[in-house]
Amino acid sequence: LQLRRIGVVGAGAMGAGIAQLLAVNGFRVKLFDVAEGAAARAIDRIDADLKALVGRNKLADDKAREALERTAPASALEDFGDADLVIEAIVEDLSKKRDLFASLERSVAPGALLASNTSSLPIGAIASTLSAPERFAGMHFFNPAPVMRLVEIIPGPDTAPATVERLRQLAERLGRTPIEVKDAPGFVVNFGGRAYQTEALATVHESVATPAMVDAVMRDCCGFRMGPFELMDFTGIDVGFPVTQFVHRSSFGDPRLRSTPLHQYLYECGRFGRKSGVGFYDYREAGGSREQRHAAAAEPASRVALAEDNAVLAALVAEAGGVVADDDGDVPILGSPVGEDCTDYCVRLGLDARRTCAVDTIFHAQKRLTAMAAPGHDAATVGAAVALLAQARPVTFIRDSAGFIAQRIVAMIANLGCEMAQTGLATPEDIDKAMRLGLNYPRGPIEFADHVGTERLLSLLQNMQRISGDDRYRPSLWLRRRALLGLSAAVAI
Ligand SMILES: NC(=O)c1ccc[n+]([C@@H]2O[C@H](COP(=O)([O-])OP(=O)(O)OC[C@H]3O[C@@H](n4cnc5c(N)ncnc54)[C@H](O)[C@@H]3O)[C@@H](O)[C@H]2O)c1
Repeated sequence: LQLRRIGVVGAGAMGAGIAQLLAVNGFRVKLFDVAEGAAARAIDRIDADLKALVGRNKLADDKAREALERTAPASALEDFGDADLVIEAIVEDLSKKRDLFASLERSVAPGALLASNTSSLPIGAIASTLSAPERFAGMHFFNPAPVMRLVEIIPGPDTAPATVERLRQLAERLGRTPIEVKDAPGFVVNFGGRAYQTEALATVHESVATPAMVDAVMRDCCGFRMGPFELMDFTGIDVGFPVTQFVHRSSFGDPRLRSTPLHQYLYECGRFGRKSGVGFYDYREAGGSREQRHAAAAEPASRVALAEDNAVLAALVAEAGGVVADDDGDVPILGSPVGEDCTDYCVRLGLDARRTCAVDTIFHAQKRLTAMAAPGHDAATVGAAVALLAQARPVTFIRDSAGFIAQRIVAMIANLGCEMAQTGLATPEDIDKAMRLGLNYPRGPIEFADHVGTERLLSLLQNMQRISGDDRYRPSLWLRRRALLGLSAAVAI
């Protein structure tokens, strides 16, 4: 690999984490920070973290000791004269990074590589003031670096292929999964990660559901470890909102990336989530509020009509102890729109909207169902249908929404993934890998597209776009072409 001695500049959360990861994997690391004593304090934190790993039997005692011995503070950039690579993890500020790299170019050997851990600055912009940009690239680790397995490697316009290759090999030596990403706003993870959050915000903005309801559906019906609101509170809205704004602005206001006023409001109020005690949820009291909205309590219906043949609905009715009957003008009607709201669905099929209860049969699970009804529905009749279904499993009853909750959020994730593939941000395979490893998604966006089916996903998005009149939902051309040809979303050529 020819990389043995590595310098890290910036001893904050990321710099310390990267230094620790390098040292544990056998590299000699020098850590520099402008703040007096910061590098030494970071090494103390590394020591404590390594000891905790030893305590949990995750690391052998001698390995931890050796890793610490390989880590030393640097007192000036000149100390990097023998470094094979220097990784920068200082504040996210273009002019500060440019100044730092100008100094580094004077301090390091001619053959040494340089890398930046920036999350949002263009690699090309940092490279533009370098005298040897071919040895420089982005190397984007995720927080906490010793734990997160993904590394995005971002070549700038003048980066030599050999530089990319050596950084890729280094990432592999560190037990990470490197993916090569185009130098574009947010790279793959911070760009692609917007859909989950902003579409969840859009459902709450439209009063379709509460944050707790959205979170429950995304966990139970789609397999996400955290619901989008829990995730935003966990990451911190002080971090997440500016990233969302940055990606939206950098994409010239593409409505697909638009957030909502509530997101900005929490940011302005300093309600950042867990770290400030309150965000979408209140963490100041044990338990906090996890409000769920329920359909009006009613006696379960024993007989229901089906709007269309649907094996999933028929099985659910049977499981709940009900009977599928002909529509006698009185019984509740169950239907399962795809990307339509209950209103459009009823009008298109000529159904009685007062008695119709729509159920999501794409994202249903043993743990939960999502149901909705049109405005003006008869609460007793629809409530009886919901009460029947609730005998089979918990039902989240929402306001009328094109795409329920899960269909619309997953459609947005998958569509943005297809757009990333279309614009060549990374290969479809790497896009999926990045989103699974960088964000813990149960499936990558391209896999989600194939899980729904490209044709069904296309019609889902077209319905959402037609009903809302919002270009936010316009299908990616990548998806459209593959859907029309009956191909998988992973087809790359
Ligand atoms: N925190 C994250 O989740 C995360 C994830 C991936 C990438 N990043 C990126 O990593 C970089 C560092 O982020 P962080 O969260 O560790 O920040 P941080 O604020 O925790 O640490 C930054 C450190 O850099 C030092 N510093 C500032 N200017 C310097 C200079 N000119 N020379 C040397 N040291 C200097 C500061 O004293 C501080 O210790 C940023 O570019 C950020 O965008 C952050």
